[in-house]
Amino acid sequence: MVHVLLNSSFLYQGLEISAKDGRKLIASDLTTIPNGALVYSTKSRFGKSVPDKILWAGPTKELPKKYKKYSSRNLKNQFAIMPGLIDCHTHLIFAGDRSDEFAERCAGATYEEITKKGGGILKTVQATRQASLKELENLAIRRIRDSMHYGVRTIEIKSGYGLKHDTEIKILTLIQKLQKKFPELTIISTFLGAHAFPKEKTREDYINEICNIMLPEIAEKKLAQACDIFVDEGYYTIQEASHILTKARSFGFKIKLHGDELQNTEATALAVQMNALSADHLLKISEAGINKIANSDTVAVLLPGTAFYLKSLQAPARKLLSKGACVALASDFNPGTCMCLNLPAILTIAALYLEMNRAELFASVTYNAAKALGLEKHKGVLTAGFDADFFILPFQRFEELYYRFAWRV
Ligand code: NIG
Ligand code: FE
Repeated sequence: MVHVLLNSSFLYQGLEISAKDGRKLIASDLTTIPNGALVYSTKSRFGKSVPDKILWAGPTKELPKKYKKYSSRNLKNQFAIMPGLIDCHTHLIFAGDRSDEFAERCAGATYEEITKKGGGILKTVQATRQASLKELENLAIRRIRDSMHYGVRTIEIKSGYGLKHDTEIKILTLIQKLQKKFPELTIISTFLGAHAFPKEKTREDYINEICNIMLPEIAEKKLAQACDIFVDEGYYTIQEASHILTKARSFGFKIKLHGDELQNTEATALAVQMNALSADHLLKISEAGINKIANSDTVAVLLPGTAFYLKSLQAPARKLLSKGACVALASDFNPGTCMCLNLPAILTIAALYLEMNRAELFASVTYNAAKALGLEKHKGVLTAGFDADFFILPFQRFEELYYRFAWRV
């Protein structure tokens, strides 16, 4: 089936952004087509008809004749069209909440102090281990619907609140089930078994379990596309990360890492050296780290909602951008450091505190975020042949997405 969208207030294709590999963007790199049209095909996926490929994009008045016979929707110049948003870093599967810790942090306690007292990631691990599959599924469904409401059409979901074989597999299997339940959404599954260390095992035993039991099984069952690790003081060291990620790569996983967030450990350099898809957080990245990532294909994924929520200094976005890094933004949705799935609200924080321009903001949740997931050849740009992942904004202009702070229409 072919579908046609006519008379969008503006059509944002993102072609100039992809042509520049999402780097060194100036505001005018985000070009617009007033009165735009989009033609796409649909296909049946898991029993549902969903958009498939883009067939044509351009001004409505130039719509090729052959598409005029198909059913169309007239957007009457009220709504803009842009590539579907991509949230390339979330921890969407967990049970319980940590509002008590939030209250402690509001009263002055730090994230690290709370973790030392037995809170933090391990508290959510306990709740997630105890939760039934159905409970986790219901929570995940609500969260995914919420994220899609804000325009997200591709979402990365990490495991990491199991920290033992059965629960990690349970989470990854649930992600697989969600892929079938939401055929209109692309869900990328990332194994983050190395999120923290479980209480009941030695460090060495747990790392061996990840490398020798979990990774081979997850690879064999195709339960994840990428492998991530939390490299920071009090978490995994550079040596441990290098060992685990090398093993992951040998099983064919793409690699990513959380790094230079709480302290600088030169984790970014490791990500670049290992040709990781992305290095994420980077609040404490060094000058050397900035230079390395700027001259590489590893995407710098910044998570400004997290710095905001932790009341820490934001990542040096302007420095990364001016050196030519490919910068993406994501929600980092998780119960401890960013209980927010609203990606446009994250853009508002980035516009104000990372001082990113409109083209940089647009790229950060489209082409650059696609690249952070290895999907930039298919997603993040509205052009013939690419996936028909689009978002019809409830507004006339892209800028309204983040100007209308935390909107819900
Ligand atoms: O990305 N930095 C590591 N992990 C999460 C926090 C997880 C938690 O506190 O539950 C993050 O910020
Ligand atoms: Fe994270």
